[in-house]
Amino acid sequence: MRLWALDAPGSREYCPGTMKLFIDSAEIKEIEAAARTGLIDGVTTNPSLVAKAGVPFETLLQRICELIDGPISAEVTELQADGMVTQGRKLAKLNKNIVIKLPLTWDGLKACRTFTDEGIKTNVTLCFTAVQAMMAAKAGATYISPFVGRLDDIGQDGMGLIGDIRQCYDQYGYKTQILVASIRHVDHVRQSLALGGDVGTLPYKVFQQLLSHPLTDSGLTKFMEDWKTAKLG
Ligand code: E4P
Repeated sequence: MRLWALDAPGSREYCPGTMKLFIDSAEIKEIEAAARTGLIDGVTTNPSLVAKAGVPFETLLQRICELIDGPISAEVTELQADGMVTQGRKLAKLNKNIVIKLPLTWDGLKACRTFTDEGIKTNVTLCFTAVQAMMAAKAGATYISPFVGRLDDIGQDGMGLIGDIRQCYDQYGYKTQILVASIRHVDHVRQSLALGGDVGTLPYKVFQQLLSHPLTDSGLTKFMEDWKTAKLG
């Protein structure tokens, strides 16, 4: 059952049952800005984001680890299990918070099992079916990353997949956390909450939109206008 813990206000454990928010970015400026809110629990990166950022991978990861004290996903770029394990072990040594991100392939799951047995956390990525998610859980993945936006892009039901995986994991007691990825808009976040996602990883643009509501803006404007005209004696 998901409960609110009332005994540790201000700590990351204040509401252990709630969905964690990660930032899906390799741009230091975005990660810095998101970190300043105090509301970011971790970071996910991928080879495309890192390539775009244009900073050497290990330097980038170390900088991110200085900014956020939480899980930081670093994806391997090797395709064979042995290469993934060698590369992942090296990345994991950079910081205790590094999570090794692996593709949902036979080699990725083989490497996942090795890392799990070594106590290294993993994020199995590029998940598009509940059966793939079940296989990643069997390999001991810490996180599974279903890509909801990319499924929506091809006319399939991205959020439906989150519901399917939640049901599968709960029914069979898999401990792998569902990290909802490829989030495109705030309603994906709302649906992730409703469906019991464990983590949502958000592009910075979507993170910035989380508080946006026209009635919040107009309500605040009105409060301030009325306050200016108040005669309070
Ligand atoms: C997740 O870890 C991925 O980096 C990311 O969410 C992919 O999102 P995209 O489909 O918008 O590229």
